[in-house]
Amino acid sequence: MEPLIAANWKMHKTAAETAAFCADFRPEKAFFEGVEVLICPPFTALGAAKTALAGSPVKLGAQNMHWEKQGAYTGEISAAMLREQGIEYVIIGHSERRHLMGETDEQICRKVNAALENKLNPILCVGETECEREQGVAEEIIENQIYRAYKGLEPDKTGSLVIAYEPVWAIGTGKAALPEDADKAATHIRNCVREMLGSKAANGLRIQYGGSVKADNIGSFVELPSIQGALVGGASLEAESFKALVQAARKAVAN
Ligand code: PGA
Repeated sequence: MEPLIAANWKMHKTAAETAAFCADFRPEKAFFEGVEVLICPPFTALGAAKTALAGSPVKLGAQNMHWEKQGAYTGEISAAMLREQGIEYVIIGHSERRHLMGETDEQICRKVNAALENKLNPILCVGETECEREQGVAEEIIENQIYRAYKGLEPDKTGSLVIAYEPVWAIGTGKAALPEDADKAATHIRNCVREMLGSKAANGLRIQYGGSVKADNIGSFVELPSIQGALVGGASLEAESFKALVQAARKAVAN
């Protein structure tokens, strides 16, 4: 399975800044051999990214979506609106949405189901807070997040699932998880998916690690057989640093 290296830009970059990034981030096709690269800009920059990346293997994703097709939901964006912009992936349940915007497991479940119905690949984010980790309940928290998010999915209609394991204490802190801890969490995640949706879904699942990923530590995550990619915030904002990170990931998986 090709690792999925995804840039989560959060609330960074205007459309003009996105076009400038993409102009710098257009390496030779060979640069992407062995990895799938995804950029998730803010909604308002998706059109600019689509135009600037036309013909490049870099894929486009969104950072959120609403589960309804349309309606009186001021400020929300539907799956069809995203698909029109050439989106293939959508990040769902990022910890910033859970903790800062009060997104619930039930809403996340609706979004995952709606994304799959609309042929978008959901990147489900799960992960424990520092306090939950200290209390020794990290595995239980992750397990609950997965069971609640994937509730109602039919095993043979899941497409290719992606889960990003993002310990909340590692996001934007410069303090990445230890690879052995990420490995343990990823193994647990795959077992949960196996139990819930069967072997086919579990074997096809890509698990990303996210939280303070940089060019100099990505290799230690993607070289693990349990992990197939990374969700990257800060280190994806500059074209040069994201290029270095993608290169480091390729080198690690090639070995
Ligand atoms: P970070 O963010 O790489 O800046 O830690 C990761 C994320 O929030 O997805």
